[in-house]
Amino acid sequence: AVKQRADHLLAEMSTQEKIGQLSQLFYFGPNVKIPGFDSGPSIETQIAKGEVGSLLFITDPATINRMQKIAVQDSPHHIPLIFGFDVIHGLRTIFPVPLAQAASWDPVMVSRDQSIAAMEARSVGIDWAFAPMVDIARDPRWGRMVEGAGSDPYLGAAMAAAQVRGFQGAYPGAPNHILACAKHFAGYGAAEGGRDYDASYISDSQLWNVYLPPFHAAVKAGVATLMSAYMDLNDVPATGNQWLLQDVLRRDWKFDGYVVSDANAVRNLQTHGFAQDQEDAAVRAFKAGVNMEMAIGQTAYDSELSKALQQGVITGQQLDDAVRPILEMKMRLGLFEHPYVDVARSQRILDDPAHRTAARIAAERSAVLLRNEGGLLPLNKTRYHNIAVIGPLADSQRDTLGPWTFDENLSETVTVLQGLRNAFGASAKITYAPGAQMHRKFPSMFDALDRGKKPPVWTPAQARQQMQQAIDLARKSDLVVMVLGEHQNMSGEAASSDSLKLPGDQEQLLQSVAATGKPLVLVLMNGRPLNIKWAALHVPAILDVWYPGSQGGNAVANLLLGKSVPGGKLPFDWPRDVGQVPIPYAHNLTHEPQNQARRYWDEASTPLYPFGYGLSYTAFAFSHLQIDKSSVSKKEDVHVSVDVTNTGKLAGDEVAQLYIHQEYGNASRPVRELKGFERITLQPGQTKTLQFTLGKEQLQYWSQALHRWTYDPSTYDVWVGDDSTATMHAKFVVTN
Ligand code: IFM
Repeated sequence: AVKQRADHLLAEMSTQEKIGQLSQLFYFGPNVKIPGFDSGPSIETQIAKGEVGSLLFITDPATINRMQKIAVQDSPHHIPLIFGFDVIHGLRTIFPVPLAQAASWDPVMVSRDQSIAAMEARSVGIDWAFAPMVDIARDPRWGRMVEGAGSDPYLGAAMAAAQVRGFQGAYPGAPNHILACAKHFAGYGAAEGGRDYDASYISDSQLWNVYLPPFHAAVKAGVATLMSAYMDLNDVPATGNQWLLQDVLRRDWKFDGYVVSDANAVRNLQTHGFAQDQEDAAVRAFKAGVNMEMAIGQTAYDSELSKALQQGVITGQQLDDAVRPILEMKMRLGLFEHPYVDVARSQRILDDPAHRTAARIAAERSAVLLRNEGGLLPLNKTRYHNIAVIGPLADSQRDTLGPWTFDENLSETVTVLQGLRNAFGASAKITYAPGAQMHRKFPSMFDALDRGKKPPVWTPAQARQQMQQAIDLARKSDLVVMVLGEHQNMSGEAASSDSLKLPGDQEQLLQSVAATGKPLVLVLMNGRPLNIKWAALHVPAILDVWYPGSQGGNAVANLLLGKSVPGGKLPFDWPRDVGQVPIPYAHNLTHEPQNQARRYWDEASTPLYPFGYGLSYTAFAFSHLQIDKSSVSKKEDVHVSVDVTNTGKLAGDEVAQLYIHQEYGNASRPVRELKGFERITLQPGQTKTLQFTLGKEQLQYWSQALHRWTYDPSTYDVWVGDDSTATMHAKFVVTN
């Protein structure tokens, strides 16, 4: 029915209006002027003429209604706009960053939280999230690692599907939900040198086996839209890449939604040295399969496509096919019937305290305990009365939230300092000293949008004085909590880094404070693994809380005091130093794997912490690994079962992880690959038996040699345990 309705509308629309539906423009509202991001004074006129199909970046419901009214009342066929926004980890309620969400290994929670984000967004008139980012990131220099699910295709696919279901609900257009957009199709995370926007060179086997599975999972989960990436993939820009956008996405995966370009990516096909001029850029993106062009000011589609149509370079049929899914989605969202939002209702939804509770729980479930020597954690509340909280991130609301947050209520964001004060109340004196500062060498592209207050830059003398103050404070205290890491604008888009060191003089601060000998807890806030080699040997307790969101401080206090038991696990391998990257656990064995000393002469070739790693305040044991059959044909599945027991004294969560290895076949296969996981809660002494299924879906892979998917008869190793170094092992054979 939606298709027919769209066809009827298409039959009435002018060419100019159809092209208009393919244009998406940035708009920040009438009062926000951002250099280089001016949408131009004529945006209202363009909308009234039907030359704009979508706006992005407005979050104020009254402004959304005002712009929508122009489209609905004045444009020739009264077609509503669709409003898009980067709802990456919340709108008003900010959840932990996506990398943290992945560290929860809890797709059900992630889905629920993205549906809260969707509800808030929909209530203000945002219909479409530019999320989830499902790019696999194996090089943590790449700043956008923070926005994805880490380095693993299996975990990445689970998180991609969970987020799509969360944003969209049961179907695209479901009430109180919004459309999702799987981005950035495809290969953006493999940018050379981790430099944002640089070209990616990815072999076919890596593309199919590592980079594409999360996108395919999003499509299978019914994602309504995808975003084409900025960069060249094997020398063909993703936004002009017919193979990706037609052959893979539409022909093989049967995707029937629409594709939006990343910002200005269509125009920039010329900059890449791919398109001859702007008309060529528009035509090649259009023909490749980009339905909608996202741009600042004016789109190349708007200025060039009508010429191309007149010249017969593109056909009217192709134009209709590009517009139809956009109209269909607007219809499914009910925008034709209900174009406006109720501002008072939106306020009630944004103020819902249940959303903040969900954010706190998410932050608690995402935290990863990296080290806990001597059982310093959980803290005994009655033992500490004089606590020093030290570090530049301990009282920064902006950093507690993380990147991609523009619409939060900053004043209600709970920092770690505030969270500890809330938790300890009058029982402890908590004193704060920043101790160190850090700065980007080059400014962030988001500075103009950033509403956080920036402290003045210290002179070298002030920096020395601040550090001394912090050390003195530590000396006088009976417990030190340090909050170190990176400012939120040091990860995210255009926030790649050539080093993984703790920025600024934080390392020196850490070592000096540790030298006081006081009990020391290091809380990390970060969007990527950092070089914490020294801390991993010398600091007794290290808790990674990423950018934990609106309720971050309360969550950290609950974790440190044991009101909540850490259960998160790393969604990537944590390198010892930047020189090790990439260091995925899922590497091939290749030549002489036993000779580790020949890999690097100056550093181990294992990560500091392996993929899937994370400690708890309680202890777990795995036992009774069983496979129901020792030999199966390719048509059969095997069922793996394992017992997990809480052998400690506290209730807590464990993530059981199943890894496989194919011993021989048409290709060398990774030494281990994750193929199943489950996060469970166990009371002390409780045992649960978990079941996993392995069959064609889990065991097939794309073979470079055969140029197709293959499922090889082979011997398969299975390990189940609490991280990617699990030792409990079994085997089975697959025959033809
Ligand atoms: O959605 C983003 C994308 O991830 C990077 N470029 C800008 C888009 C819109 O903000």
